[in-house]
Amino acid sequence: MERVAKKSKLSGREQECNSMSKSISQIEFLREHAKQASQKAYAPYSQFHVGAALLMRSGEVVTGCNVENASYGLSNCAERTAVFNAVAQGYDPADIAAVAIYTATEKACAPCGACRQVLAEFLQPGTMISSTSERQLRQWSIEELLPDGFEFDIEAYRKPL
Ligand code: THU
Repeated sequence: MERVAKKSKLSGREQECNSMSKSISQIEFLREHAKQASQKAYAPYSQFHVGAALLMRSGEVVTGCNVENASYGLSNCAERTAVFNAVAQGYDPADIAAVAIYTATEKACAPCGACRQVLAEFLQPGTMISSTSERQLRQWSIEELLPDGFEFDIEAYRKPL
């Protein structure tokens, strides 16, 4: 049985930019955007306001917040809103250089499983995800958050058995 490692499509320089070595000022800059986005959250049911900010390679920032629904399961997390927002605005989601999440809580929250899968669809290997609250900063690479996530090999799937 063949084991396929996820290959990086990035050049050496891009990989360097993409590494875990984002500076503190970059993290703070992105955190501020995520914090402002959290203020737009529609969360009347949980009262848990989450903001997410994506740093694009161009330096632009795309944000999202959680949007809840009376039918709870239809609620959308801040991280997914941010990614969908970037796609809807015409950004190439492969250009996401870093992700920040903010919650006005004691502990910094880790992204839910669904958001990990959605982020993994687009993030280049090694992309850093930081989560901050009022007291904590946590950071992970996408591989740490979602080892062995679902991948759909369209060609293999279409091949007759
Ligand atoms: N939520 C997010 O927006 N991001 C996460 O990573 C975890 C949870 C939202 C979903 C829901 O609106 C509220 O937080 C409580 O679960």
